[in-house]
Amino acid sequence: MKVDVLLGLQWGDEGKGKIVDVLTPKYDIIARFQGGPNAGHTLEFEGHKHVLHTIPSGIFHSNVINLVGNGVVIDPVIFKGELDKLAPFNIDFANRLLISKKAHLILPTHRLLDAASETAKGKDKIGSTLKGIGPTYMDKTGRNGLRVGDIFSTKFKEKYKALVEKHVGILVHYDGFEYDLETLEGPWLAAIEELKKLPAVDSEHFLQKALSEGKKVLAEGAQGTMLDIDFGTYPFVTSSNTVTAGTCTGLGIAPTKIGNVIGIFKAYCTRVGSGPFPTELLDEVGEEIRREGREFGATTGRPRRCGWIDLVQMRYAIMINGVTELSMMKADILSIFDTIKVCTHYLIDGEKVTDFPYDVNDVEITPVYEELAGWNCDLTELDSYENAPQALKDYVTYLEKQLNVPINVVSVGPDRKQTLTNPA
Ligand code: GDP
Ligand code: IMO
Ligand code: MG
Repeated sequence: MKVDVLLGLQWGDEGKGKIVDVLTPKYDIIARFQGGPNAGHTLEFEGHKHVLHTIPSGIFHSNVINLVGNGVVIDPVIFKGELDKLAPFNIDFANRLLISKKAHLILPTHRLLDAASETAKGKDKIGSTLKGIGPTYMDKTGRNGLRVGDIFSTKFKEKYKALVEKHVGILVHYDGFEYDLETLEGPWLAAIEELKKLPAVDSEHFLQKALSEGKKVLAEGAQGTMLDIDFGTYPFVTSSNTVTAGTCTGLGIAPTKIGNVIGIFKAYCTRVGSGPFPTELLDEVGEEIRREGREFGATTGRPRRCGWIDLVQMRYAIMINGVTELSMMKADILSIFDTIKVCTHYLIDGEKVTDFPYDVNDVEITPVYEELAGWNCDLTELDSYENAPQALKDYVTYLEKQLNVPINVVSVGPDRKQTLTNPA
């Protein structure tokens, strides 16, 4: 068996959580491979809305195992908070939620370092979620990190103290940055005890065995391709590989074991935090998308920046990830417009540009748009793609031709049920 991958093609928040939940009945295992509590994945069904940060989005389906892979960074306090919120739903965590021993831990001081670094950067800040993601991955690659497997060691407290001391030594250099570590440490150490109750596994072996037994695995991405540490709009990115290749390193899956790659995108585009966004709309139209789409961060509540879909960026993301099929999200939000714009290419210094440029941060990009007819009607009650308005089908067909990948799913609302399958 091969591992299917589902990931975001834009700047995150494409609707990954919803589609993972919709697809989970087809799988035996859902595995997160990177990121951490910077992610906020929203699921809606039976009148409930859930936001998951670390726990994979297959958790609401019984008989499916959810695995937090080695590429993920875990804040035990946030993780415990997620478990507590799920308590009323009687989920059998002990048998259905596994954590890789090799996943790294976010310490309270990682969060402090994130905050200190962002404050020091002033107007140049990344706009990080302040969850300690960057400093934790820095310690991982710097070979200083603490891993889930370490919490069972008798030397854990010693290792923890040594790393905290190192961090305190760095924090001293941030002039005027004040903090109270003691109040953060108590809950963190208590949450470690909770973490110990869950099965810690060698997830690479676990997955290999599962695949050899014919089990079906879906890898759930976090963030989006344009936030990838290598291929995103650096330095305004996150600190992990959010692309398909991240599945291999974040779960211990060989590249030859990757199956379908499902790329998720919004029918328009959003970004939260700083950094370039060529099709951003700073006018009333952008406001309308934000209002209609309720574009506010699931993790931080920050307003998301909004704009039209960008095919230069999308083609780049499809190339990097080897996307085999697409899911288009939030089509219902565009119902308010008579016409819809699609950026087909850029103009830079008067030259036509179709490859996503290296110096996107520094050059002036003029997006060139094609205008398509809108559908101007409510989609949220649609029960099948066949019954969708022709203008929506034309939009889908246009994007399929431009991107050269089939759009198999069209989402018309946040609920599990508001999901249409394109039979074409
Ligand atoms: P993720 O991080 O990729 O899982 O996405 P988020 O959960 O951060 O953001 C997506 C938001 O859009 C959530 O509030 C979802 O409930 C919502 N959503 C997902 N699909 C649709 C859709 O097709 N229509 C509408 N109106 N909302 C959607
Ligand atoms: P999901 O999985 C949208 C953004 C932050 C910031 C940059 C770096 O819900 O799609 P970090 O805290 O990772 O150091 O922040 O990345 N960012 C996200 N934006 N969705 C996310 O996750 C994000 N995770 C990080 O806003 O610009
Ligand atoms: Mg999100």
